[in-house]
Amino acid sequence: MAQLWGGRFTKETDKLVYNFNASISFDQKFYEQDIRGSKAHVQMLARQGILTEQEKEEILGGLDSILKDVQDKKLEISSEYEDIHSFVEANLIDRIGDAGKKLHTGRSRNDQVALDMKLYVRDEIDAIDEEVKNLLKELQKIMEDNVHTYMPGFTHLQKAQPVTLAHHVGAYFEMFRRDRGRLKDIRKRMNTCPLGAGALAGTTYPLDRMFTAQLLDFDEPTRNSMDSVSDRDYVIELLAALSTIMMHLSRFCEEIILWNSNEYRFVEIDDAYSTGSSIMPQKKNPDIAELVRGKTGRVYGALMSLLTTMKGIPLAYNKDMQEDKELTFDAIDTVKGCLALFTGMVSTMQFRKENMEASAKNGFTNATDAADYLVNHGVPFRDAHGIVGRLVLSCIEKGISLDELSLEEYQAISPVFREDIYEAISMKTCVEKRMTLGAPGPDAMEAVISENRKYLEEN
Ligand code: ARG
Repeated sequence: MAQLWGGRFTKETDKLVYNFNASISFDQKFYEQDIRGSKAHVQMLARQGILTEQEKEEILGGLDSILKDVQDKKLEISSEYEDIHSFVEANLIDRIGDAGKKLHTGRSRNDQVALDMKLYVRDEIDAIDEEVKNLLKELQKIMEDNVHTYMPGFTHLQKAQPVTLAHHVGAYFEMFRRDRGRLKDIRKRMNTCPLGAGALAGTTYPLDRMFTAQLLDFDEPTRNSMDSVSDRDYVIELLAALSTIMMHLSRFCEEIILWNSNEYRFVEIDDAYSTGSSIMPQKKNPDIAELVRGKTGRVYGALMSLLTTMKGIPLAYNKDMQEDKELTFDAIDTVKGCLALFTGMVSTMQFRKENMEASAKNGFTNATDAADYLVNHGVPFRDAHGIVGRLVLSCIEKGISLDELSLEEYQAISPVFREDIYEAISMKTCVEKRMTLGAPGPDAMEAVISENRKYLEEN
């Protein structure tokens, strides 16, 4: 049990207390960020004349050697230390002696951990953003290839009007694009450097906080030292953004599970992304989609958990805040994993275009267009709605679709119908006539696809 603060204590910490309090088992995840922060701190201390150049060089060399040894697995981060900060400092002193004891000058673990967490979260925001972008690129490919792939659009999970696969997937493109926007906003807002806030009230050393902030690629230092050590808003914001990403993935997974079922057969998930049953030889299950849908719960849980942890904490730092780490790390790893797997699944999935189109035809998705045909020939919409309703009913009785009715059958219900009704209610016409911006018509769709392409090049 190696502690930084033994001086005023006369007894050893109880073993159970030590373990309960220690965070090394999880905060070791940000050893690189901890060392990066310490290196910036030391450079600033030397620049301000608080450390000598010689001391600075020794400390930087020592920190680099610790980093390298941990990366090369020559130095194990062991549970004999309370946290990652103690581990690095103790190892530094072991390696370089007295100069190492000056590392913590003008710093507290409170501003240190606030910095480490920010550096870690910032790095991970960039990594998650990259994963979302990879997914967007795959969705863009599907859109480009399927501007003329007709499928039913649904409301209430009932067939409604025909759309295209490009249009359906385009809806998800918008969702994930907004997710990237949220990540960007959070990154911008959180990009202030807490180092120099000390335990809560700054320090008496003449620190140059602007310089430290610049070294670590922050826009500026934080403006209130008490807030600096107790702000976890950005973690909550991130967890909310991650929850939204998972919600989007989960909705898409739900659709893929439906589409992959024997009843729909709109898609075929690749063998590499499916699993079998130990008892039923015929089964090929969409487990990956189900797991992504399932893991959404734990990411939501992380958000609720941290909101609840933070709600009663008085200023400034309190140990409760150590609870931010495990759940945030888990949420980040979960989302990154789900994004990568989902992207792989979608990019290898086969779309059964014939089934999609047949399904669009069988579900009266062109009924609105049949009514619009009548409206274009002078029939008031409400009457047209009634006429087509009766046609649909007779189709249901006969077990056929609207384009299978004979012209006589049409004309028996309304003499307005002519031979061109078949053309007017074809899938092609139904989709192509929907040409307002945002609709599935090919021109409107191509405009969006080219805007997406530009967005992906620039962002
Ligand atoms: N492990 C602590 C955390 O994660 C580091 C800060 C400790 N500070 C303190 N005063 N005990 O929050």
